[in-house]
Amino acid sequence: MSAALPAPLVVEKERLADEAAAWLHRALLEALARRERVSFALSGGSTPGPIHRRLAALPGLDWGRVDFYFVDERCVPPDHPDSNYRLVKETLLDLVGAGSTQAFRMEGERQDVEAAASDYAARLPPALDVVFLGMGPDGHTASLFPGHPLLFERVRRVAAVHDSPKPPPHRLTLTLPTLEAARVLFGVTMGENKADAVRRVWAGEALPAARVPRVQWMLDRAAAGQ
Ligand code: 6PG
Repeated sequence: MSAALPAPLVVEKERLADEAAAWLHRALLEALARRERVSFALSGGSTPGPIHRRLAALPGLDWGRVDFYFVDERCVPPDHPDSNYRLVKETLLDLVGAGSTQAFRMEGERQDVEAAASDYAARLPPALDVVFLGMGPDGHTASLFPGHPLLFERVRRVAAVHDSPKPPPHRLTLTLPTLEAARVLFGVTMGENKADAVRRVWAGEALPAARVPRVQWMLDRAAAGQ
């Protein structure tokens, strides 16, 4: 079952990072106007880095009132090249001066990843304020992959994945109930290699990215198949 998605925003590739950063900046400012502290959950991959850097450079946002969470994480140490925490730290946390008490890491390096998943679930707020997603060429989002039983998980808020087709195979991920509960959901995907997944999502195929409701997706023309 595909969730109801707003029409995607399609922007020129050269403008995508700036437009995505501006979108997130507005969403965070609007959340901060309503609440003393705001939770912001981030994904990994190759797309977010430039967007994070531009977001960090935008003025007028009190980053001290933002708590950072993760949409998913690879089961590696936090200083490993594959670590989403390391990506977010280098491209955003360090640039905005976020302290260690503001970043809630998924502890993918732990031997007992099931315990790491349940411990993280216990730390999550009831509803994340702003969630930033990506989309893989197979239509995955977070570390929720096509045909995976986790797509039907309705109880656990965080789960371990041991068979990710996107390396590395072992990960932690937010589940659909957690994503569905988020107040604002934003996604960015770009490149011709995502055009098939985008086409299938908006054709109604129940790919993981199509199962997260209300996501405002932003695409470049290549991903939009234009
Ligand atoms: C991860 C990401 C993953 C990512 C997509 C898109 O940890 O791998 O959270 O879900 O968002 O795979 O990745 P790209 O931005 O590299 O296309």
